[in-house]
Amino acid sequence: IPGIWISDPSFMTTALASSAITYLDGEGGVLRYRGYPIEQLAERSSYLEVAYLLVHGELPDAAQLQTWTDEIRMHTYLHDNFRKRFLDGFHYDAHPMGMLVSGMAALSTFYPEAKDVTDPAVRRRQIIRMIAKVPTLAAACHRYSVGMPFVYPDNSLSFTENFLSMMWKVAEPRYEPDPVLARALDVLFILHADHEQNCGTLAMRTVGSAHADPYIAASAAAAALSGPLHGGANEQVLRMLASIGHVDNVPAFIADVKAGKGKLMGFGHRVYKNYDPRAKIVKQTADAVFEVTGRNPLLDIALKLEEVALSDEYFISRKLYPNVDFYSGLIYQAMGFPTEMFTVLFAIPRVAGWVTHWQELLEQDAKIYRPRQLYVGRESRDYVPLEQRS
Ligand code: SDX
Repeated sequence: IPGIWISDPSFMTTALASSAITYLDGEGGVLRYRGYPIEQLAERSSYLEVAYLLVHGELPDAAQLQTWTDEIRMHTYLHDNFRKRFLDGFHYDAHPMGMLVSGMAALSTFYPEAKDVTDPAVRRRQIIRMIAKVPTLAAACHRYSVGMPFVYPDNSLSFTENFLSMMWKVAEPRYEPDPVLARALDVLFILHADHEQNCGTLAMRTVGSAHADPYIAASAAAAALSGPLHGGANEQVLRMLASIGHVDNVPAFIADVKAGKGKLMGFGHRVYKNYDPRAKIVKQTADAVFEVTGRNPLLDIALKLEEVALSDEYFISRKLYPNVDFYSGLIYQAMGFPTEMFTVLFAIPRVAGWVTHWQELLEQDAKIYRPRQLYVGRESRDYVPLEQRS
């Protein structure tokens, strides 16, 4: 911070985490998981394989991938009495993201052994459980919030197809996912799996550094992600596009943003001062989805917003570009997800990043997070008795 001398050198070591998981170059718009470019993973990998890569640090061979897939499948179920105790407490119109945050914390009551965070074998069981159970919990939150019955996992399906089945299945014997939509969602899950020291992941690392229960730590991460400046932006983008209503209204909306009357949601980033590489892939994925679902008319407004903003000095001078949230909601809406589920769809894959960072800090035997501050308050002064205060 220019001009302010940092009196405590530990400030910098405490404030900065060293990590081998994800590499970001904000100026260059580069994102790599364990050294692999996000573009290659999005094109050639699957979410479950990427989750293995994040957790283990290497791509799996065929046997390792099969074992991993089987382990995840074994843990997709939610105990019936967990659902009775957890879901029955919610009134029908509860917001699914709020339900997910508390549901993830509630899982801690089911796995008390999870608190032994120093045992690698115990850690691994919780990592698998969280990756496996959050989609089931998320689908259950949606189904319950719209008054529909719970759908059990169908482990004959892939990870992402299984989630779609738990979301949309209405008749026996099984849900038949559209392969194009299932692949598109799997790509979006890959893009959202991790993103270095973002707000939600830092919450996971901070709470995890206190050796708190990992389900509680993940719930804290999801709580941070729910913020509209963070993962909650994808829901706000759709509301923004709907409120603009027509491409002819875009110039007036941009003028309001420049006048400080609100933000262009889905634009800007704490790190990327270039086009978010994930946003490019989301935009390409949208074309494949709209081939199946029909074009989302709000896309025209989004494209116009991007065109006007990227040629306007206000946004150029501030290095504001579309981020991962700008186009993702258009795909989710075209797939039939309610707006309230958009941030839940961000949280599901991000669990892989959260648990990987949690595992890393415990393997590093990291100290409890305790960043120092730059004190800018009053100097020392003596107490003034009440009767002497004016
Ligand atoms: C995610 O960290 C991560 O990695 C997060 C994430 C992940 O994968 O985990 O990538 C996911 O959170 C993406 C971001 C989603 N949020 C949004 O889309 C909400 C809209 N964006 C803004 O709220 C904002 O851009 C932030 C919060 C993302 C970043 O805020 P900053 O750090 O304040 O942005 P900045 O310092 O770069 O701002 C510089 C200027 C400021 O104006 P001035 O004070 O210089 O006049 O740009 C302005 C800001 O007010 N600005 C915006 C803007 N974002 C910043 N103006 C209008 N619209 C915006 N979206």
